[in-house]
Amino acid sequence: MNFDKLENPIEQFTRWYDEATHSQEAKPDAMTLATADKQGHSSARIVLFKGLYQEGFCFYTNYNSNKSQNLAENPHASIVFYWPVLGKQICIQGVVEKLPVSESEKYFHSRPRQSQIGAWSSKQSQTITSRTELENKFEDYQTKFKECEKIPLPTYWGGFVLKPTRVEFWHDRAHRLHDRFVYVRQESQWIIQQLAP
Ligand SMILES: Cc1cc2nc3c(=O)[nH]c(=O)nc-3n(C[C@H](O)[C@H](O)[C@H](O)COP(=O)(O)O)c2cc1C
Repeated sequence: MNFDKLENPIEQFTRWYDEATHSQEAKPDAMTLATADKQGHSSARIVLFKGLYQEGFCFYTNYNSNKSQNLAENPHASIVFYWPVLGKQICIQGVVEKLPVSESEKYFHSRPRQSQIGAWSSKQSQTITSRTELENKFEDYQTKFKECEKIPLPTYWGGFVLKPTRVEFWHDRAHRLHDRFVYVRQESQWIIQQLAP
């Protein structure tokens, strides 16, 4: 079967992502996010894809975490989705910016109350002495927000959007002759190239 390409990589992504969410993939929304500090030291971790915003890929996190500190120094980042059941990979490069607070508010309040309290309780990426310390903090915030119908969004928590400049689609094929198509942003257009596997 030939690779059936659309002209816009976001539409192409949406087509593959829909397929992944309707397949047996255990975590179709899990993506590896790679960042680098200003010296170019890289780090990677999984975050959850939380939808598209103005043709960019959204995720939510703690703005004081390691990844966020990297992004403050160097907004260039990469995302990789891998769906083994479908034999598909998407590698995305781009530039990251913070989502508007209104978007973060919307998402934060869509999460279960306990997760909202969890965000208050965890200084993500900082050293802690024990799990008990974390659990005590959680209890403290449960008490603090007991009377509070709507838990406030912490100022240090919110979303990012990665605006893509390069999007590569990889599809497993026989004899290691995999399909690779890359969309490269040139001014306001996307140029599509095929790459050797
Ligand atoms: C399946 C999975 C989903 C995750 N989703 C998120 C997420 O959406 N946001 C987040 O901040 N961390 C998420 N994490 C935790 C991160 O991988 C990471 O441990 C954390 O963000 C701290 O990373 P940092 O110290 O590099 O900033 C997830 C981990 C896994 C395994």
